Amino acid sequence: MRKTALITGIAGQDGSYLSAFLLAKGYRVHGLVRWDNRNDPLDAFEPDVVLHNGDLTDANALSMLLKRVQPDEIYNLAALSHVKVSFETPASALAINAGGTLNLLESIRVLGMEKSVRFYQASSSEMFGGSPAPQNEDTPMQPCSPYGAAKLSAYWLARTYRESYGLHVSNGILFNHESPLRSVDFVTRKITKAVAEMEKGRLEPLVLGNLEAVRDWGYAQDYVEGMYQMLQREKPDDYVLATGKAHSVRDFVVRAFSQIGLGLVWHGEGLGEEGRDARTGRVLVKVDATFFRPSEVHVLRGDAAKARRLLGWQPRTSFDDLVALMVNADREALRTGYEDRAWMQAG
Ligand code: GDD
Repeated sequence: MRKTALITGIAGQDGSYLSAFLLAKGYRVHGLVRWDNRNDPLDAFEPDVVLHNGDLTDANALSMLLKRVQPDEIYNLAALSHVKVSFETPASALAINAGGTLNLLESIRVLGMEKSVRFYQASSSEMFGGSPAPQNEDTPMQPCSPYGAAKLSAYWLARTYRESYGLHVSNGILFNHESPLRSVDFVTRKITKAVAEMEKGRLEPLVLGNLEAVRDWGYAQDYVEGMYQMLQREKPDDYVLATGKAHSVRDFVVRAFSQIGLGLVWHGEGLGEEGRDARTGRVLVKVDATFFRPSEVHVLRGDAAKARRLLGWQPRTSFDDLVALMVNADREALRTGYEDRAWMQAG
C-alpha cells in the first residue's frame, strides 16, 4: 500500500528535498503552502505532488485538509523561520510556530486520527539558546529569540500530545542545514551568492552582521533522511541532527572566497572591520549593524550520538564540501541564468 505524506512548508528548502526523497520512496505527497509562497500558478497540475493552499493559523481549514488527505505521516516544516525577523514580528512567530503546531496536533486528536498518523515536528537548535555546546537531547533549553521561544513551545506541545494522547510524535532538533535552495535571507546563501557574483564582476562588498557567531552547518539533503527515519521507528522520540563540527561565520566567508581563488586579510574591528582581497587590497566584506540581532546565540554545536545509535543516521557532507557545492551552484546559476528561476527563491 502506498503511503501518503503531508508536508507543511513544502515550498521551502527542506520541503523540497523531503518531497523528492519521499516521492522516490513511492509516497503520495501532499503539501500545504501559503498561496503567496507558491512557485507555480494556482491552477497548475502536478500529478506527483498535490499542493493545497493553506496556513497553519487556520485551524478549521487544517482539520478539513487532514480529513480529506488522510495522511499516514505529517511533516510539520512550515514556520516563520528567520530568527531576526522573529524579533520584528514576535506575535506572528508565536502564532505560526507554536499556535500552528497546536492546530495540527489538535486536529489529529479531534478527528480521532491518533493511531493512524505519525507526526514530525521541526524543532530547532535555536531552542538551546545560551546553553553551552555541545548540545544534545538532554541539554537545558534557554532560547533567546521569539523564534526560539515559539519553537520551544511547539516542542513541548508535541511532547505533551505524545505523552497525553499516545500520538506518534517525534521532534527533530535540527542544527543549521543549508543548500543551494536556501533563501539569501540566511547567512550561508547570502555569502555564496555574493561570492559567485563578485567573481562575475560585482563591485559592491558583501555586508554582514556578527562574524563571530559559531554554527554547526550541515547539508539539508542529508537531514531530510533523518526526518523520515524518525517516523519509521516503532516508538516516537526526540533526536538531535547535527554534524558535531562548528565554524564561525568568518570561517564560512573565508572558505567561500577561497573557492574562487581569493584570500582575505582582515582590518579594523567591530563595525569598522573589513575583509580585503589579500592581493589587491580591495574591500570584499564589510560589517553593518543592520544585520545584528537584539540578542544572539553565540555557539551551536550538536551532538547527534543518539540519532547515530538509534536511527543509523549520519551526515555525509563535510563543511568544506557544503561551502564548495553552494558556491558552485551559485556560479552555475549565474552562468546559465538560472538564478531567476522561482525554485531558487525557495527557503
Ligand atoms: N541571516 C544573516 N544575515 N545572518 C547573519 C548575517 C547576515 O547578514 N551576518 C551574520 N549572521 C549570523 C547571525 O547573527 C547568526 O548568528 C548566524 O549568522 C546564522 O544566521 P542565519 O543563517 O540567519 O541562521 P540562524 O542560525 O539564525 O537560524 C537558522 O538555523 C536554525 C537552526 O539553528 C534558521 O534556519 C532557523 O530556522 C533554524 O531553526
